[in-house]
Amino acid sequence: MRIKTRVVKVNPENLEENKIGIAAEVIKKGGLVAFPTETVYGLGADALNEKAVRKIFEVKERPADNPLIVHVSSVEQIYEIAQPNKVAKKLIDAFFPGPLTLVMKNKKVPEITTAGLDTVAIRMPDHKVALKLIELSETPIAAPSANKSGKPSPTKAEHVFEDLGNLVDVIIDGGETKIGLESTVVDTTVYPVEILRPGAITKEELEEYVDVKYAEDFSVAKSPGMKYRHYAPDAETIVLVGKDFFKKAMQIAEDFVKKGYRVGIAGLNLEDKRDEVIYKNLGRSLEDMAKNLFNVLRELDKECDVIIIQGVEEKGIGKAIMNRLYKAGRVFRI
Ligand code: TXA
Ligand code: MG
Repeated sequence: MRIKTRVVKVNPENLEENKIGIAAEVIKKGGLVAFPTETVYGLGADALNEKAVRKIFEVKERPADNPLIVHVSSVEQIYEIAQPNKVAKKLIDAFFPGPLTLVMKNKKVPEITTAGLDTVAIRMPDHKVALKLIELSETPIAAPSANKSGKPSPTKAEHVFEDLGNLVDVIIDGGETKIGLESTVVDTTVYPVEILRPGAITKEELEEYVDVKYAEDFSVAKSPGMKYRHYAPDAETIVLVGKDFFKKAMQIAEDFVKKGYRVGIAGLNLEDKRDEVIYKNLGRSLEDMAKNLFNVLRELDKECDVIIIQGVEEKGIGKAIMNRLYKAGRVFRI
């Protein structure tokens, strides 16, 4: 299946509804639209249209047992498709719209979207383009991250084009995404609620409202997606956690360079530079790092055989960053 992809550029601060309207028509007709959210780009289809959702699995080459997140633009829409309990309602009030996905009892989302589970994962993105697209499509939109399975999630429209160009009908280009890591996924059908995937909404923030625990091993059984090797560059990826990152990274890099490998180093507070080794700055803070991580991994992956990347403390959004890095490569304490 190859089609000509239409790229539509929009300015999230000054929405031109007719442009989003074009994409909404595609969703209504059962097509595929990649769109920006505040976390990463999503690959969207009408969540209630089986045929359309099947296409998402095909173009992403995603295993059929990995359920999709359903995106809504209003709270009423949640009640049409699912049955939130008291705990879910509390979290909806507190965090929607935002980078939080809630697993709740399903009401009418088809099996293909939920991979046959009796629950459905729902999120209301905090992004004007995404919300307008859902509203104009007049249906909830199922959307995984818009990467090929096994690639880092896209934080720019260019990433989507690299992975899925000419496989999707429309890519809405709304610039770089703000957060850069996928949403926190929380199962509200158990108590304490369980974090199935860490993200920008942290355990501490959730604990202001409900009791929370991390699912064991980010629960292979409960969040099917977590068992697959995600976010993995093709390059050998080495994550170093601890003091003196740069010194240790240079030592390792030199060994690889001697053997003829092309090496990239990514860390906080570095200067972008190309020498014998390629250096990439991840920014100054954990928030910067979350935002830049997938883009830097993609860029280094194009040019390097080995990527050495700085690990961080598993606190706050550091928990989500390290969760992605465990999947990207091997983690060493230094
Ligand atoms: O930020 C995000 O969440 C992005 C944007 C596009 O919204 N979407 C995203 O979707 O990351 P995806 O498909 O790449 O990840 C969805 C995760 C997977 O780990 C999946 O297994 C889990 O959510 N999930 C979906 N439905 C579930 C359910 N009913 N029960 C448990 N886990 C579920
Ligand atoms: Mg994904």
